[in-house]
Amino acid sequence: MGLLDGKIAIITGAARGIGQAYSIRFAKEGAKLVVCDVLDCNETKAKVEAEGAECLALKVDVTDEESTRKMAEETINKYGRIDILLNNAAIYGGLVMKPFENISVEEWDKVMSVNLKGLFLCSKAVTPQMKKQKKGKIINISSTTFHMGVPMLLHYVTSKGGVVGFTRALSNELGEYGINVNAIAPGFTMTDASKGITGGNKELFEQLASMQANMQAIKRREEPEDLTGAAVFLASDDSDFIAGVTLPVSGGAGLV
Ligand SMILES: NC(=O)c1ccc[n+]([C@@H]2O[C@H](COP(=O)([O-])OP(=O)(O)OC[C@H]3O[C@@H](n4cnc5c(N)ncnc54)[C@H](O)[C@@H]3O)[C@@H](O)[C@H]2O)c1
Repeated sequence: MGLLDGKIAIITGAARGIGQAYSIRFAKEGAKLVVCDVLDCNETKAKVEAEGAECLALKVDVTDEESTRKMAEETINKYGRIDILLNNAAIYGGLVMKPFENISVEEWDKVMSVNLKGLFLCSKAVTPQMKKQKKGKIINISSTTFHMGVPMLLHYVTSKGGVVGFTRALSNELGEYGINVNAIAPGFTMTDASKGITGGNKELFEQLASMQANMQAIKRREEPEDLTGAAVFLASDDSDFIAGVTLPVSGGAGLV
C-alpha cells in the first residue's frame, strides 16, 4: 500500500531535476501521473512507468491559459478526476546570480510570469474539478532563498516570496471546498539548475554548496530525493487538516 494509492497527480516542471524526483516518488506511492513541462517529459514518463504507474506526458506552458486548461481537460479525459496539483515549474535553471541592476526587464518579467502567473493559471485550471470532488491538494514550490533574503537573484527570490503569499491567500479561498493549499520551501538542492547558478564557475559553486551545508543543522548537501517525502505528505490524506503553510525542507536552513 502506498500513501497515494489511486490518486491522480499533475506535476508541472516534471521533465528534469526535482520535478522528476517528485514524479518517481509519487509513482512509488501508487499515484497515477500527468507529467507536464515545456520540455519533453518522455524520460520522466519512462521512469514513472518503470515503477509500474500509469503516466500521461504533456507539453504544457504554465504561462499560457489555454495550455493549462488543456492540461486539466486531458487529465480528466484520461483519469476522470484530479486529486493533486504540484506546481513545481519555474524559471530557475538558466538563471545566473548577478547584481539586481544587471537583471533586464525581460528576464524579470519572464521569471514573474512562470513562477507566479504559472501557479495562478494551473490552480485556476484544476480548481473546478477539485471543487466538484470536494477534495484536492495544491502544493506550491517556494524557496528558502526568500526566507534568507539571498542576494544576487532578486527576481527569483521575490517570486518565491510571492509563492508564500499566494499559498496563504488561496488556501483561505479554497479550504471550505476541501482543497488544501500548501507549499514547500526547498533549500539549495543539487540539480543541474543549481549547478548553473554560478554561470559555469565550478569553484564558486563548490564554495556556495559547502557554505550552505555548513549553515544547516544537517550538514550535508540537499538532494532532490530529500524533498519528496514532504511532497507525498502534503499530497496525501495525512495532511487533510494542514492549510496555508510553507514547509521548509532545507536541513534546517532558512527557518522563520
Ligand atoms: N534546486 C534548488 O536548489 C531549488 C531550491 C529552492 C526551490 N527550487 C524550486 O524547485 C523547483 C525545481 O527546481 P530544479 O532545481 O529542478 O529546477 P529546473 O529549472 O531544473 O526545473 C524547473 C522545470 O520547470 C520547467 N519550466 C520552465 N518554464 C516552464 C513553463 N513555462 N511551463 C512549464 N514548465 C516550465 C523547466 O523546463 C524545468 O523542467 C523550482 O520551482 C525551483 O524554483 C529549487
